Amino acid sequence: MDKTGIEKMLRPKSVAVIGASATPGKIGYTVIKNLLKDGYKGKIYPINQKESEILGLKCYPEIGQVPGEIDSAVMCVPAKVMAEVVEECGRKGVKGALVITSGFSEIGRKDLEDEVVRIARHYGMRILGPNIVGTLSNSEKFNGSFAPCLPLPGKNSLVTQSGALLIAMDMATYSRRIGYEKMISIGNMADVDFADLIEWFQDDEETSCVSLYIEGLRDGRRFIDVAKKSNKPIIALKSGVSAHGAAAAASHTGSLAGGAKVYSAAFKQAGVIQATDLDNLFYRGLTLSMQPPMKGDNFLIITNGGGNGVLATDAAERFGIPLKFAPDDVQAEMKKHMPEYGSAKNPVDMTGMAGNDWYYETVKFAIMNKWTDSVVVLYCETAITDPAEIAASIKRAVDDSGVKDKPITVSFVGGEKSDKAIGWMVENGIPAFFAPDTAVNAMAALREYAKLQENKKSDGAKTDEKAKKLALEVIAAARADGRTSLTEIEAKKVFELYGMPTTKIGLAKTEEEAVKLSKEIGYPIVMKIVSPDILHKSDAGGVKVNIKTEAEAREAYNTILKNAKAYKADANIHGIAVQEMAPWGTEVILGSVSDPSFGPTVMFGLGGIFVEVLKDVTFRVTPVSKAEAEEMVSEIRGAPILSGVRGEAPRDRKAIIETIIKYSSMIYDLMDEIAESDANPVLVYAQGEGLRVADARIILKKK
Ligand code: ACO
Repeated sequence: MDKTGIEKMLRPKSVAVIGASATPGKIGYTVIKNLLKDGYKGKIYPINQKESEILGLKCYPEIGQVPGEIDSAVMCVPAKVMAEVVEECGRKGVKGALVITSGFSEIGRKDLEDEVVRIARHYGMRILGPNIVGTLSNSEKFNGSFAPCLPLPGKNSLVTQSGALLIAMDMATYSRRIGYEKMISIGNMADVDFADLIEWFQDDEETSCVSLYIEGLRDGRRFIDVAKKSNKPIIALKSGVSAHGAAAAASHTGSLAGGAKVYSAAFKQAGVIQATDLDNLFYRGLTLSMQPPMKGDNFLIITNGGGNGVLATDAAERFGIPLKFAPDDVQAEMKKHMPEYGSAKNPVDMTGMAGNDWYYETVKFAIMNKWTDSVVVLYCETAITDPAEIAASIKRAVDDSGVKDKPITVSFVGGEKSDKAIGWMVENGIPAFFAPDTAVNAMAALREYAKLQENKKSDGAKTDEKAKKLALEVIAAARADGRTSLTEIEAKKVFELYGMPTTKIGLAKTEEEAVKLSKEIGYPIVMKIVSPDILHKSDAGGVKVNIKTEAEAREAYNTILKNAKAYKADANIHGIAVQEMAPWGTEVILGSVSDPSFGPTVMFGLGGIFVEVLKDVTFRVTPVSKAEAEEMVSEIRGAPILSGVRGEAPRDRKAIIETIIKYSSMIYDLMDEIAESDANPVLVYAQGEGLRVADARIILKKK
């Protein structure tokens, strides 16, 4: 992807403001004022048909009359003239445009938006927006927006689909002392999208973490591909995860707001850290922009207050990095810096007696020690200590340790002085917060980042060309028959082609065939009606189980036929499926959907009530790698059931993982054909004894 247009719009040497205005309060006025006020050093060309000068700058009636070259244009004219001015910009050689104007796809005028993009593409120009606040860059002193000021400087950059949030967060950077380098409003994403900007940020030396506020993605697969390659941490807050929120997001941006579980899965696969709320996006983003990843699971909490230590310990478990006792040598050293009644185990509680020196010594030792992978330092303001001095001691300890690859986060609970110390620490590169839970949560983000980096290395499944060819033949035959779903026999055939073991099944069209098949498969057997007109077979009396003899087989065959005809007289009956009655096993379910943002996506969970009542399922976008399949099996709440409970032997986990990978290959290979599918139940046996797909369903895409 050519990054020139984005480079020109985010780091312009010259900028035209189309629709610049001399009237205070108008957006075309505010943008010019912001560019001047916030110290933009490039050339500014206001374009207005009536004015000769705006805020002391010479005005041009149209961009074509500007003498010099122009990198970027900020569009502040109404939607109805946008195509015209984009055309003029294109002719002038402008390579990037920030389209502030609203009134496009978000109100159903996608046609206007498409026209603007079409013209821009013709001239090799990139469009940010429309429907944006603009962009802000501290390093460029560029405020090409109607946000009031540049944000407090930081190393973190934000891309947001909500313009109002950009303005609000911009101002909040000062009250929270959490800064941003760039803030970019992405709007309707008619052209430039999240993936384009993530790619561009790879070479932005001023940015060390990319924060995203996402309502919906159009091309989720490209997002995953690009984010996977990122050399910088990416953190995303996805809104619209509740049913109501999704509807609100869809109407807000006119974009897609896909299922929360699929987004979470996609973020994991892309190596993107998820934020749970705005606060979380702020402080996790800050931490990721300042500290190295936490490689390993050992972290030490150092505190002067027992309560704080307990709160942090609880938070550690909640956020997935449970605390371990420190080894003897660490405890021995820690004991040197506390009274008798302190505790060196972890949390290291130096008690309220802790002063500057103890903080200095314990923090420095902890960072330098081999066992420790990270340190969380907690401080409760006391009358015998000065928060500013404690902060300075912690910073000195970090500097003197000389260690650069172990992260540290800090909490200062107290009044104004502690608050000031927090600000000072952040200015000096150490993420510091009020609550101990926040310091731990921030550390958990650094642990998540390290783990996601490890997972990103694993490859997805490969296409199985032979299976694909044969499966397409089965599907083509069903389509030729005028159907958009496969029968169970056909679906199982497709599953078998991809190497998934299914229960033996055959189709009987006569009573004699049913008897013959039953013998071949071996009693006991199950019989089921096969009819595209009868989907709920049991309701129609179309299923008989545990058939043990030839006489029972004959009777079952005839009863099922009679029931089916009584249920729906004109049903098209293909015959009766004669199926092996598989021995009992733990029921699991596999499913697939075609997600609007991410395409073919697979689901795994325990079957029966676990899926029906508890919705204990997990998703991954295909193709699923071995590591991802392993994660899927481990992360469902019911995972311990598969490991064996109440004296039961552990289930065949290896077989489940292999089946998920094969199923993912099938769904990925046949993505143009399969709309949704499931294998339910899949019966899983004891370790080493495999599994069987007992029922399978494949619904085809309508063509
Ligand atoms: N070339 C140059 N200048 C032009 C042209 C043209 N072809 N056509 C019009 N202009 C001038 C106008 O004369 C006017 O200048 P003036 O003040 O000297 O008369 C200026 O451009 C602006 O045109 P207006 O018709 O006055 O439009 P107005 O300023 O009222 O609105 C705007 C334009 C701001 C782009 C509006 O259409 C709009 O989209 N507002 C919403 C912006 C927004 O909210 N964006 C999303 C942010 S996200 C969030 O939720 C916060």
